[in-house]
Amino acid sequence: MHQKAILITATDTGVGKTFVSYNLAYTLREKGLRVGYLKPIETDVKDVPQDGYLLSSLTGQSLEEAVPVRYTLPLSPYAGILEEKRDFSLEDLKEHFLKLLEKYDFLIVEGAGGVAVPIKKDYNYAHLAKDWNLKTLLVARAGLGTINHTFLSWYYMKSMNIEPVAIVMNGFEGIDVSEKTNPLIVEELTNLRVIKLRKVEDLLLPYEERKLLAELVGF
Ligand SMILES: Nc1ncnc2c1ncn2[C@@H]1O[C@H](COP(=O)(O)OP(=O)(O)OP(=O)(O)O)[C@@H](O)[C@H]1O
Ligand SMILES: [Mg+2]
Repeated sequence: MHQKAILITATDTGVGKTFVSYNLAYTLREKGLRVGYLKPIETDVKDVPQDGYLLSSLTGQSLEEAVPVRYTLPLSPYAGILEEKRDFSLEDLKEHFLKLLEKYDFLIVEGAGGVAVPIKKDYNYAHLAKDWNLKTLLVARAGLGTINHTFLSWYYMKSMNIEPVAIVMNGFEGIDVSEKTNPLIVEELTNLRVIKLRKVEDLLLPYEERKLLAELVGF
């Protein structure tokens, strides 16, 4: 398994993969590492890929390098292929990934949506993690509804022989009453380490929380 890279995957879209990628990249850069970011496929790209733009503005990469494949519609990659009638090569994508793996001290790979989101027919982000030999981090929501989503995502990953390095529960606000017991119950269900990240005003987490993300990937 590549020790120099991780797939940031999630229970759903909009749960904080880019947010976690940003905070991890920021913290590793602070430690003096050369950090690369790769969103292999970004959809819902009208003009500029938003996730790629945010991360590449931090890492100094070109958008072409950070987001090699793009689709316009807000869909899964596979649905993008079908609707926009444009395919791409998984072999070329892997070659691009391997080049970036060589180029940087640490590479952050961001999925699109949740872990079972299809990239191609019979090929989703769990397949990509296996295929690219990537460690994974499972990002989940903090509040009500997260137990079911997180359990199902973890259970599916387990069925694929993938064990995330941790589950990151993101967006704790201290308002939703379920936030208190969710981490404990998810920990009990999965036996995985659960990291709690708070909701912040801007993009950057407090240092002690960012530090935990860096530790998870070995720095
Ligand atoms: N802990 C947090 N504190 C404040 N804002 C957050 C936090 N986590 C996520 N956000 C914000 O919530 C929105 C959705 O998060 P994000 O873009 O990271 O989701 P995602 O999982 O990357 O979604 P996608 O599947 O589209 O890539 C963004 O505007 C992000 O900045
Ligand atoms: Mg994102």
